[in-house]
Amino acid sequence: MLTVNHLAKSYDGEKKSLTDVSFSVHPGEVTVIIGPSGAGKTTILRSINQLIRDDDGEILFDDTDMRQLNRSQLRRARCRIGMIFQNYNLIEPLTAIENVLHGCLGTKSNLAGIFSLYSNREKETALKLLEKVGLKDFAYQQCRNLSGGQKQRVGIARALMQHPKIILCDEPIASLDPKSTITVMDILRDLAINDGISVLINLHQVDIAREYADHVIGINNGQVVFDDRTQALSDAAITGIYQKGAVPERSLVHEF
Ligand SMILES: Nc1ncnc2c1ncn2[C@@H]1O[C@H](COP(=O)(O)OP(=O)(O)OP(=O)(O)O)[C@@H](O)[C@H]1O
Ligand SMILES: [Mg+2]
Repeated sequence: MLTVNHLAKSYDGEKKSLTDVSFSVHPGEVTVIIGPSGAGKTTILRSINQLIRDDDGEILFDDTDMRQLNRSQLRRARCRIGMIFQNYNLIEPLTAIENVLHGCLGTKSNLAGIFSLYSNREKETALKLLEKVGLKDFAYQQCRNLSGGQKQRVGIARALMQHPKIILCDEPIASLDPKSTITVMDILRDLAINDGISVLINLHQVDIAREYADHVIGINNGQVVFDDRTQALSDAAITGIYQKGAVPERSLVHEF
């Protein structure tokens, strides 16, 4: 459902942040991208929904190349791609339910979005989503009064408001304590298993990747150096992914 082919990106026209990155993400699976700081993980994630423009390659989302879409097509495609951020990206003075309702913005005309004209049905959906992430009782709390773990769950509910086919998560647990980490990761895994959503997560925590991922992609220096089922992520493979100057050790073409 998502296939990235030969993606390349340079921010300054000289140093390559991504060189020839290819991988696929499958429906109903948790795919985790790991790799050292500066390897290119965020660049990959933000290229998928074209928050940054890459230089070369193909990003096939449901067989459509995201790179070839015009503005309105891109807006529609982005509605099916949820995004979760390390710093939550919530509007802090607004309530949890208002933030979740903002997940609809991409599907509304600008006018409706600006004036927050949400239907009762949308409000019911937003409440149900907050219930799904265990926050029904916090629906009318201002987000600035929520804990980090609660904020991240609001972020997930907001992403779900778009009925996404895929959710992209850039270090969603980096600011969370161990208990909230488990709560958030459990929710993300449930979305893959029970709702068939593809979940693609950038992580620094290898132990969490091992526990939650179906599929692991290792990135080093803008290149894919590991692409396999999680069972294949041996200690030696992890060392390889994180070592300086890592290169792909073998063919990265897998039949999943
Ligand atoms: N806006 C930018 N302008 C210039 N260079 C950038 C920009 N964003 C990222 N880079 C460079 O691109 C490379 C990849 O960065 P990226 O943020 O994708 O790495 P990352 O794997 O997400 O790292 P981290 O684990 O620290 O978040 C790095 O060398 C970084 O310095
Ligand atoms: Mg990053």
